[in-house]
Amino acid sequence: MEAVGGRRRRPRTMLFLVLVALMVIMAMAKTASGGGGGDDGGAGGDHDHDHEQFLKLWNGRGGEDAKEDYLNWDDDDDDDEDEDEEEEEAEQVVAWAAKCRPPAGRNVVNVDSFGAAGDGCSDDTEAFLNAWKKACSLNNAVFLVPGGRRYKVGAARFIGPCKNRMIIQIQGTIVAPDEPSEWDPASPRLWLLFSGLAGARIQGGGLIDGSGSKWWANSCKIDRSKPCKGAPTALTIDSCRGVSVRNLRLQNAQQMHLTVSRSRDVRLAGVRVDSPEDSPNTDGIHVADSTAVTIQSCRIATGDDCISISNGSFAVRMRDIDCGPGHGISIGSLGQGGAFAAVDGVSLDGARVARAQNGVRIKTWQGGAGYVRNVRFAGVRVDGVDHPIVIDQFYCDATRPCRNRTSNVRVSGVVFRNITGTARRAEAIRLACSDAVPCVGIVLSDIDLRREDGGGEVQTVCNCAMGFDDGRVSPAADCLRTSPCGGMSPDDYHPDDKDDDDEVRHSEL
Ligand SMILES: *[C@@H]1O[C@H](CO)[C@@H](O)[C@H](O)[C@H]1NC(C)=O
Ligand SMILES: *[C@@H]1O[C@H](CO)[C@@H](O)[C@H](O)[C@H]1NC(C)=O
Ligand SMILES: *[C@@H]1O[C@H](CO)[C@@H](O)[C@H](O)[C@H]1NC(C)=O
Repeated sequence: MEAVGGRRRRPRTMLFLVLVALMVIMAMAKTASGGGGGDDGGAGGDHDHDHEQFLKLWNGRGGEDAKEDYLNWDDDDDDDEDEDEEEEEAEQVVAWAAKCRPPAGRNVVNVDSFGAAGDGCSDDTEAFLNAWKKACSLNNAVFLVPGGRRYKVGAARFIGPCKNRMIIQIQGTIVAPDEPSEWDPASPRLWLLFSGLAGARIQGGGLIDGSGSKWWANSCKIDRSKPCKGAPTALTIDSCRGVSVRNLRLQNAQQMHLTVSRSRDVRLAGVRVDSPEDSPNTDGIHVADSTAVTIQSCRIATGDDCISISNGSFAVRMRDIDCGPGHGISIGSLGQGGAFAAVDGVSLDGARVARAQNGVRIKTWQGGAGYVRNVRFAGVRVDGVDHPIVIDQFYCDATRPCRNRTSNVRVSGVVFRNITGTARRAEAIRLACSDAVPCVGIVLSDIDLRREDGGGEVQTVCNCAMGFDDGRVSPAADCLRTSPCGGMSPDDYHPDDKDDDDEVRHSEL
């Protein structure tokens, strides 16, 4: 991995980030005194805390007083050794598959030994679950899905805790039954679930195929006469710790491809996602309620967000991401139906986004509460992307328009740096923050966006977005410094307003 995005400290950067931090503090103080604050879930010393975190984010270093490991943004070097070791063992396991000689000290549990047919027709769910039970009970187990075969598996829960150092080695193809009407009603939102594992590795270069086309046809996004209900996520990592997923392909998920939820210290690397551009709600990688998640060297082509980071996510680091087609790399959506949401510490260093609706985006619903803060999107090359840079606090994925509300998820401390390439639409940069809770500490630095194929001008559109531009920024973003608001001013904000008078029907679950 090359180091992208200038994570090293430079004198100019130091001066710059002090400025940024000051702006954040000033702007926050201003909104708080105007009565627009209160969503951060605290009072008093919070500003100092935000300031500190902002500096840390910029520095790319945890600093001596970092109490939580998620603030250690620069621990890459420490991990390399671990990774080499893992890589080596992964190779051994693969070599063994070719030579039929098990790796030393490993207990291989082959699904075939538990009666899996691997013919793509027979239902191998039971065989997989029985093999899992066995593998889970052994130290140093390899749960093996052999290559060159196709296993049809229905909704299945692979639950831990298991014995130490489990490897889930998927070399063949796991395919889902394609008929929604025959899906296990007990698992409406899950296909393959891995839960309660510590330190396990899911790998092997195999393919997980959700056979999603009938699910998509049933989606209310495709057929308006159908009710809006969710479909299964292909692969879910839930309530896990220290789990890694590497070198795995997912395609045609029923809905989302890979979700990480309620987990900590999860690494995703070398994951490939492939689904059609018009497949509904098929997010590539979705992170929720998780801390310290690394997503690295992943290639995602799908019909919704390539990566979506949602509520309860802290310290999510993305590097070397290839996205498109799709809806871009997103934080959100957050605050739907008045929900409280918290996302703190997200970085993207190095991405290529091509033929996607958005490049990098933060999306929140009107009426929500909570915060998104300390975000860095850096080193992004966009190629024919509708809107390369987006903050959208008027997000509304509903069958009818959403009303403007008097609260929103507060967005603060967001740096967009070194983002270049071509936009398909005029609004290359859209910073649409809510009137009630303006965005603060928004920074654009070294941005160079042009209209694709010389199709005219590009522009920056702002609403209530406060911050500044640095270095070359094209299209110009002067509106960040003047921060015009379109509707009511923040001073009109009345926190006690009742906000519950229209019901929103939505399909993004
Ligand atoms: C969002 O996450 C926060 C903190 O992690 C939690 O308190 C809150 O209940 C979550 N909100 C929703 C709607 O799940
Ligand atoms: C800017 O980002 C590109 C990738 O999009 C990267 O190759 C380049 O090194 C970055 N430049 C700086 C100065 O960080
Ligand atoms: C909501 O507020 C924005 C910004 O002030 C404004 O542009 C938009 O027209 C408003 N929408 C509605 C439905 O009132």
